[in-house]
Parts: sequence; C-alpha cells; structure tokens
Amino acid sequence: MNHRVVWLETGQSFEVAAGEAVLEAALRGEIALPHECQFGGCGTCRIKLVEGAVGYTSEDGEAGELPMGLSPEEAEAGFALACQARPSSDLVISVAPPLACSSPTLLSATVEGVQALTPDVTHLRLRLPEDVELVYRPGQYMNVQLGDGRHRSFSMASRPNGGTVDFHVRRIPGGTFTEQQIATLRAGQTLDVEIPHGNFCFHAEDYRPLVMVATGTGLAPIKSMLEALMDDEDCPPVSLYWGMRTEADLYLHDEIQTWADRLYEFQYVPVLSRASDSWTGRRGYVQDAVLADLPDLSEHAIYLCGSPTMIADAKVAFAARGASMDHLYADSFV
Ligand code: FES
Repeated sequence: MNHRVVWLETGQSFEVAAGEAVLEAALRGEIALPHECQFGGCGTCRIKLVEGAVGYTSEDGEAGELPMGLSPEEAEAGFALACQARPSSDLVISVAPPLACSSPTLLSATVEGVQALTPDVTHLRLRLPEDVELVYRPGQYMNVQLGDGRHRSFSMASRPNGGTVDFHVRRIPGGTFTEQQIATLRAGQTLDVEIPHGNFCFHAEDYRPLVMVATGTGLAPIKSMLEALMDDEDCPPVSLYWGMRTEADLYLHDEIQTWADRLYEFQYVPVLSRASDSWTGRRGYVQDAVLADLPDLSEHAIYLCGSPTMIADAKVAFAARGASMDHLYADSFV
C-alpha cells in the first residue's frame, strides 16, 4: 500500500512505496529534504509529524528500534528521522525551512595557513576566491574533495567574514586527508572544496539563554556561531560546555576565556574525562556537568555538537530536566 506524504509549507506531495523510507521517497520524487548520513545517526533529516504515524522497520518489515539520532523524547514530541522512518499511515510533515545561504558550490580554495594546535588537531585557514559570492551560515560545513570521488566534511570554525574561513581538522589515524594530505599542505596550495553544506545553524528567532555543548572539534561550529554573536547587544546569555579527554586536548582553552569580553554573560566550563591529578576543573562527561549545574533546562535553547554518544545521552538526560525538543539543535559528527 502506498501512502501520500504532504510537505506542509509548500503543499508538495510524494508517494512512499511499501517498505520505503520517507527520505528515499522524497528524493525519488525530487523533493529536497535535508539529509546527510542517511543511516539515522546525524539527525539532519529530522521532520515533525503534523499528522500520521511512522515506524522504524527494516525493508522487509521487521520491527526496529529508534535510530541513534532520534531520542525517545523527540519521538514522543512528534519528531521523526526521514531517512529511517517508514509511514504507517498517510502523513503530513513539517520540515525546517531551507537556510538562507548559497547552494553548495565547488571551488578552488587557497591554503592560507596550516598550524598544529595539538598532535591531533590542525588549524586550517582557507581563502575563498574573490570572484565567487558565497553566503553561508555559522554552523555549516564544507566538503574537501579527496580527488578519488570521496570527500571529507569539516565545519567552519569562524564567522563568515568575506575572504577566509577557519577549520579544525581532527586527525583520524590512517586518514587520507586528516593525517596524510594535511601533513604536506603548505600555504599557497589549493584545495577543491564544496561549500556550504548542512542545516546546523544559530536560530536567532529562538531567543532564550543558550546552553552550548561540544565534544572534541564539535567546538568548531559553536565557535563560528559565537563569533557571529560577539559585540551583539542582543546576544542572550551563553553557557559553553566543552568536553575533552585531557588538559592537552583543550586546544582553544586560552582563547575561549577571552570571549567573555565580547559576549553578554558568558560562562565557559571545560570538562575532562581523563584529567591528570593536577586538573582542578570539572571532570567526567560533559553532559553530566550541564546536569549538575542546571537543574531546569525548560527555558533554554540547547545546541549539541560532537560525538553521537554524547548527543544521544544528552537528549535523553536533558529532556528529563525539562528541555524542549523544539528548542534543541544537534549536529552529530558521525
Ligand atoms: Fe537521517 Fe542523518 S540523514 S539521521
């Protein structure tokens, strides 16, 4: 049996065949739903069910569990992941409007600087061609083309400022780009990149105190957003929690502390899971530090960026503290 799915904002509709996921059917019908990983991990394809119901089953109809990128609380609040959800009735769905930004554009960017911040994280600065007018939003990412048909994705770690863009590249052992190519990159060389991508961004319309939680280089898109808020009189209070393993991993620790001069009510809490005995700061998992500090999360806008495990745990734990899934935004580095 086929089901009709209506995309609420536009009135567009498409048929979903038996056993087909919503995203698969939408793309087949040339309806551009946001998506990235397509296996239920990143949460980019999150839609809201206005009417109807979905299930998470395999193509042969076996009942499955919720995908990792969707918490039970989000499902309860009517959200679904289009790449995994299979309709069990006709649906009316609501999709976040597309970002006001340029379409992904393939271009040749010039390396301006490559600097090791730690043995595992490299600061890469690229200059974009002057004759290409690009509009991108803090929180979005680019794809670096590896030359063999593959690409690697990196969030922008600086606010849009015209010419240059910063990135934090985490070394993946054996990684073609993150370990091998980046070791040979020099200023003046060029990289083929496609930019911008993604729909993780700051929601100025959702004006609430901000709780921003990052692990690892998940800090990059958060930094991009906060840079765009600096010196803005309308900036809401910001609490930034950054989870890392050791002191040596906190590659922007000193710089972040200077952000308090340019952000309205800024609190920075680094949290280490494998700190040395000399560390006097917070220890454990970063999401647990948030819970220890903030017993009520019902009035906050929450941004989560980093490991899928942190994001999955935080969604469940924060919901138990009153966090609304309508005010929670996540970008999972899968
Ligand atoms: Fe559906 Fe990533 S595209 S969770």
